[in-house]
Amino acid sequence: MSEERVAVDQEELITVTVGAPAHGGHCVARLDGQVVFVRHALPGERVTAVVTEVHSGYLRADAVEILEPSPDRVTPPCPYAGPGRCGGCDLQHVTPAGQLDWKTAVLREQLTRLGRLAPDEVDALGVAVTALPGGPTGWRSRVRYAVDAAGRPGLLKHRSHEVVPIDRCLIARPEIQALPVLRQSWPTAESVETVASSAGDVVVVEHPGAEPGTVRERALGRTWTLGAETFWQVHPAAAETLVGAALEMVAPRPGERAWDLYGGAGLFAAALAERVGPDGRVTIVESAPDGVRAARENLTDLPWVEVVAARVETALARRRVAGPVDIVVLDPPRSGAGARVVEALVASGARAVGYVACDPASFARDVRTFRDHGWRLAELRGYDCFPMTHHLECVGLLVPN
Ligand SMILES: C[S@@+](CC[C@H](N)C(=O)[O-])C[C@H]1O[C@@H](n2cnc3c(N)ncnc32)[C@H](O)[C@@H]1O
Repeated sequence: MSEERVAVDQEELITVTVGAPAHGGHCVARLDGQVVFVRHALPGERVTAVVTEVHSGYLRADAVEILEPSPDRVTPPCPYAGPGRCGGCDLQHVTPAGQLDWKTAVLREQLTRLGRLAPDEVDALGVAVTALPGGPTGWRSRVRYAVDAAGRPGLLKHRSHEVVPIDRCLIARPEIQALPVLRQSWPTAESVETVASSAGDVVVVEHPGAEPGTVRERALGRTWTLGAETFWQVHPAAAETLVGAALEMVAPRPGERAWDLYGGAGLFAAALAERVGPDGRVTIVESAPDGVRAARENLTDLPWVEVVAARVETALARRRVAGPVDIVVLDPPRSGAGARVVEALVASGARAVGYVACDPASFARDVRTFRDHGWRLAELRGYDCFPMTHHLECVGLLVPN
């Protein structure tokens, strides 16, 4: 146990002083010049950590003894959280306020390092990740439990396919926690999906085999009926929070043309359509067939909404969806939109783009592409849509300079 050692082996114990959080649920420490990504720690702490992975340029380690604790440290409310146990949550050991500080620091770091914004540009944006209503537990409306070879349900260990059997997941909605799923054996299942929708539907889907069925979701004064496994925002307050932020930023006007890219069941499109009205036009682009079906079936009262079933990259490259357009909302998966899509948006004639992002790294890379093409990030809000985990959501406004 020394900071002077150079060669370090897996399972070796090291003692380090922990630095800033990095994207992925760990903090950065240094051991004789080597970077160590330490989980279950907090910035400023002195910890003993067990090395879990040795790579040529860095180590991964789990803090197993806290020598000098941070004031933001708490005893994890979940008995399955901690080194070598359930990998579902990364921040159970952090106070709710500390989790927001952690995520704000990560968002700032990604914008400066990957987005190439200057620190004063980030300061001017007032970047802060804020909490959604409802508290840090009981929020997750969709939980996919893994099942081990003995038929026991649980969740996966961090960076592993090993199932950790559990009897309760504290971040799941109370309706999901009340299900008997975790007290049952699932001899033929590989996973079990549970959904508790905002309209009160509760569904269990066994995989492989079972058909997902449908649930109803409520947002914006509307009810959607969609496949139980069709994408829907997983935190009960996320749908309206993210729509509210994106619409405030792009400020749709009557008669405008709007795109809702990666549109899912048409959550953002419904709000855009109300605002641009029947003299405007909203085009959803969505690639998942169940998402396309849900958007087509649930927005029939808004005939100025069109649903294009395609990958966004393909739809733009083949000009199935082409400018001029006035405003765009995009909500891509974790991989982000990518340079080709951003370039198409820059060329589309849009006056404003509202970018809803669930991954700060791909968001920052896409922001950099916008900036390289003469656009700027004019506004940014962060939301803790995934308490207890390292994940965060943000909504940014991009406009031509
Ligand atoms: C983060 S979800 C957002 C859905 C919707 N905006 C919402 O909030 O309910 C991303 C959506 O993009 C879709 N998707 C993923 N990759 C895509 C692609 N390359 N082109 C079009 N849609 C894609 C997924 O099926 C999913 O519905």
